[in-house]
Formats: sequence, structure tokens, C-alpha cells
Amino acid sequence: MWLECIECHHKFDIASRFYTCPKCGGLLEVELDLGALRKKLRKRDLNSRPPSVWKYRDFIPVMDDSKIVSLNEGGTPLIRCDRLGKEIGIRELYVKFEGANPTGSFKDRGMTVGVTKALELGVKTVACASTGNTSASLAAYAARAGLRCIVILPKGKVALGKLAQALIYGAKVVAINGNFDEALIMVRKLCEQRGDIYLLNSLNPFRLQGQKSIGYEIADQLSWKIPDKVVVPMGNCANIWAIYKGFFEFDATGITKGIPQMVGVQASGASPIVEAIKQGLETFEPVEKPETIATAIRIGNPVNGPKAIRAIRSSGGTAESVSDREIIKAQKLLAQLEGIGVEPASASTIAGLRKLVRQREVKRDDVVVCVTTGHLLKDPEEAIKVAGPSKWAGRVKS
Ligand code: F0G
Repeated sequence: MWLECIECHHKFDIASRFYTCPKCGGLLEVELDLGALRKKLRKRDLNSRPPSVWKYRDFIPVMDDSKIVSLNEGGTPLIRCDRLGKEIGIRELYVKFEGANPTGSFKDRGMTVGVTKALELGVKTVACASTGNTSASLAAYAARAGLRCIVILPKGKVALGKLAQALIYGAKVVAINGNFDEALIMVRKLCEQRGDIYLLNSLNPFRLQGQKSIGYEIADQLSWKIPDKVVVPMGNCANIWAIYKGFFEFDATGITKGIPQMVGVQASGASPIVEAIKQGLETFEPVEKPETIATAIRIGNPVNGPKAIRAIRSSGGTAESVSDREIIKAQKLLAQLEGIGVEPASASTIAGLRKLVRQREVKRDDVVVCVTTGHLLKDPEEAIKVAGPSKWAGRVKS
């Protein structure tokens, strides 16, 4: 195992503790000896283990098993949605319900690895900037590990459920007058100046090693077949890359064959990567004042943008943006046709899919998985606002 810069391909020792390439400033990635894994690992080894992120332990760069900090994350349902599929025009549609993770979002898959890494490094304090879910998850895992936790949040812009979580898990919450992008600059500076504080935003390549498991798990739950398209909401743009990497590694080790087309969705008020993909660019223009009802992905300058662009291009995928109205409509459709409650950022995948089907970029016979990243109850205020008045007008007889 080693760390490798995705830009200049310089390799570094896996035990190095920096977040970006010290040679060129590029993003880092953990690479595994996939040839060795191919020889060693068999599908039947995986079949005998219970569902969990740690089912895929062979692909996770943790050195000391005794340090693993876990809340039994992963193993979330992959739900076939025929009623929604019919409405949208897809014959075989699945929702990967990440709201079923311990703190209600996919972030737990990354934090189990990231916080374990913090213990391996012997740090006592962890920190992140967040639109809400990362802070909720980090606070929980830090509590379980006995670490101090600092979270920097954009004041007044974080959904209530997420804020409640960070507070009750005992994190030190710092609210700034600024957006997520500014909070991230601040926490990066803090962690650079104070070597004793470990940064656990998705810039940290170890966190993404846990998030790869969404890809492994989808293939596993489809009996080792891969779908045609996997639709993912993009904020800071790490998760789409991590999921792609999961499929890539399964393909390279012969566990499955092929890689699905990765489809990234952003809210139209915060869509720098969608613009770059549509214009065929390698780089992207940050959005200065991102705005959307989907607060989780209200991000204008995604640090992992270069990884997202690679995941989409390498898999032959695409990207689409959706309006707040389309997001709300999709959130209600998923809730009312399938009984699946997700937060607005997650509903953007359904909205994006709907648009792509109408544009004939996704076909009726494509097998599609939408990754719904966070639980409805993360943002109850939004849900009440958009649900509208209750329709039942009957009377209860005495
Ligand atoms: N969906 C939800 C529910 C999220 O909370 C996030 C990111 C994303 C999608 C996007 O994932 O950043 O990997 O592209 N939330 C971060 C946070 C930024 O601070 O909780 P990404």
C-alpha cells in the first residue's frame, strides 16, 4: 500500500501524514497492490462475512485491527423501487439507502476508517469543516474513540438534525460567518498550524477508503453483477470518486466484471463540476455564492473536483444539475411512492435521473442505482415546509 498523487503520480509511504501532495499540491489517493489481492481473495471468502464496511477489510488500509473504531456502519439496504421506476421510466431501479447508517449518512463509512487512522497516528484531537453530516459523523466516532472533536460550520446554514447530533456527541462547535468553502479553508489552516489536530474532511485520503465500500456493497447485493449507472449527489465531490474506486478495485481483482457509468448530480445553484463536464473541461470554475435548498451540497469550490471529473470521465458517465423545485418534487415522489425518506441532497439523484431519462441519456432498460446519502430526519424543518398540508378530510365517528 502506498499514497500516490493523482496529478504528478509521485508515490509516498503509506504512513506519511499529509493531506495533499508535498511536491505539486495535488490530491492524494491510497493505492493497493491489486495484483496480490487478485491472487489471494475469493468471492466465497466475502460471502461468509456479515454485511459491514469491514466485510471488505482486505481493501482497507488499516494496520492495526485492535484500533478499529466501529458503530457497525455499512450493510445498508439496496431497495428495488418499482413504483418510482414506473413513474420515472426505468425498469430496474434501486435506491441505496445510506440513511440507515449509525448517524444517518454515508459519512460513517469514511469515519470508521478515518478515526481508526487517527488512533493509529496517536493524535488526540480531530477536526472538520462541514455542511452538517460530516460533523455529525465525526463527532460520534470521536466520542466512541475518546478523542476531542472540533467542527467548523457555516452559521445558520446547517440542518437542525445534524447540528443536534454534533452537539450531543460532545463536539466543540464553531459557527462562522461564511459558507462551507470558507470553513474548509479555516480548518485546513488550523490543522496545518497545529500538527496535533488531525483533519478528517474528505481531503484526507483514508476517509475515502471506507466510502469505497458503497461500490463493493452494491455489487455484492446485486449478486456480484454491476449496474449500468450509479447516480451520486456531488458536494465536495469525494464520494463519487470513492464509489468509482470501489467498483474499479472489484473489477481489477476479478471479483466483478466492468465498471458502471458514474452519474454526478449537483444543485443548479452549486454546480461547478456539472458545468465542467458539460463543457468538456479538465478544470472547473468555482461558484462564489453557492445556493440551494440541499444544504448538504451547497458547495461552490469542491476540493475533490478533480477526482469527480476523473471518475465520471473514466467510467463514461455524465453529470446533470437540478433545480430546488425538481429536488423537492423528487424527495416527495420517493417518500410517497416508496416510503423512503431522504434529505434534499439525496433526492437530487432521483431528480437528476428523471431529467436524464427525459433527455434519453439514460435508457428504460438500464439497471440504475441512486445513492441516497442522508436520512430525511436530518432536515425535518425542510420536510415539514415542503410536505404541504395533510390531505385527509374524513371524520372520526364517536
Ligand atoms: N449527500 C449528503 C447527504 C452529504 O452530506 C454530502 C456531503 C454529499 C451528498 C456530497 O458528498 O462531498 O463527497 O461529494 N456533505 C459534506 C458534509 C460536505 O460536510 O457533511 P461529497
